[in-house]
Amino acid sequence: MRILTGIQPSGALHLGNYFGAMLPAIHLQQEGEAFYFIANYHSMTSLTDAAQRRQFTLDVALDFLACGLDPARCVFWRQSDVPEVAELAWMLSTVTPMGLLRRCHSYKDKVAKLADGDEGSVNHGLFAYPVLMAADILLFDSNIVPVGRDQKQHLEVTRDIAIKFNEQYGQTFVVPEARIREEVALVPGIDGQKMSKSYGNTIEIFGEEKATRKKIMGIVMDSRTPQEPKPDADKNLAVQLLKVLNADLGKEFEEKLRTGGTGYGDLKKKLFEVYWEYFAPARSKRAELAANLDYVNGVLDTGAEKARAVARGVLARAKQACGLD
Ligand code: ADP
Ligand code: TRP
Repeated sequence: MRILTGIQPSGALHLGNYFGAMLPAIHLQQEGEAFYFIANYHSMTSLTDAAQRRQFTLDVALDFLACGLDPARCVFWRQSDVPEVAELAWMLSTVTPMGLLRRCHSYKDKVAKLADGDEGSVNHGLFAYPVLMAADILLFDSNIVPVGRDQKQHLEVTRDIAIKFNEQYGQTFVVPEARIREEVALVPGIDGQKMSKSYGNTIEIFGEEKATRKKIMGIVMDSRTPQEPKPDADKNLAVQLLKVLNADLGKEFEEKLRTGGTGYGDLKKKLFEVYWEYFAPARSKRAELAANLDYVNGVLDTGAEKARAVARGVLARAKQACGLD
């Protein structure tokens, strides 16, 4: 069984990315052949600074390896090191109906947010993004694709494209399945919305100590006194975040708030401590890796070589199917 997923290098990774995407991917390394890549081509639809892309790409590599991605158990590479994916994307685009792409939420949402509502100013890459994502997946005969709920529709598009190509040119691609872990609650941000880079409400996995403490201590609470019992303790943001990091301790604090007698300051202090300790091993691992970039680049280069060998085989099969050989 081949498991494949990608993560965009579009900014510092946060607790939502960690619990929603990275940790499940790290666990899945035990279940099959894990193929994970840094989606730097995808990031071009939104990020236009070359130096930033380079930096974020390295950051994702460091973050992922520090958090437990094991190069001995998985293939890990930069998307652009396997350029065959762009060739396949073109081929797939010729069997992709425009209507299918127009219906994608990711695209529709971007257009809806435009001040002038003019679709003409959206770049073609953003429109065609699900086709590149389909190529990412189909190029490796992937069976299982672990993603967050927001990517479900893109996986449906991928399946549609694979089926369409297979009908047109004969059985060529494996039709993949999404693996969406519904039990991973959406991690809330420090403002109560979904934690997201685009909302500026994140707690970064490798945030700087002082700044992160300040962020956590700054989470806005209501004005009830510590003594007052709080029957709605489960809705408390700090309790929710604490539960994500340590379920037992989160429940303990929920009870304490419910009964009354515990101040919000103590709760937030605990949240920071637990967060800081939780990532302590990964933090020192990351520092080690950052001091050994040759090793990190070596992992990515080896990954690219392995990924490319698989990609070439599948691409040759696809080219033969449609008479490009
Ligand atoms: P962001 O919203 O910060 O831009 P991405 O869209 O790049 O994050 O998401 C990368 C991965 O992390 C996806 O698989 C996504 O489902 C997951 N993810 C992002 N934010 C959260 C969250 N708050 N809770 C759970 N999973 C999340
Ligand atoms: N679109 C995904 C995201 O924004 C990242 C991604 C690109 C991906 N290609 C992929 C995920 C292929 C899974 C499989 O989160």
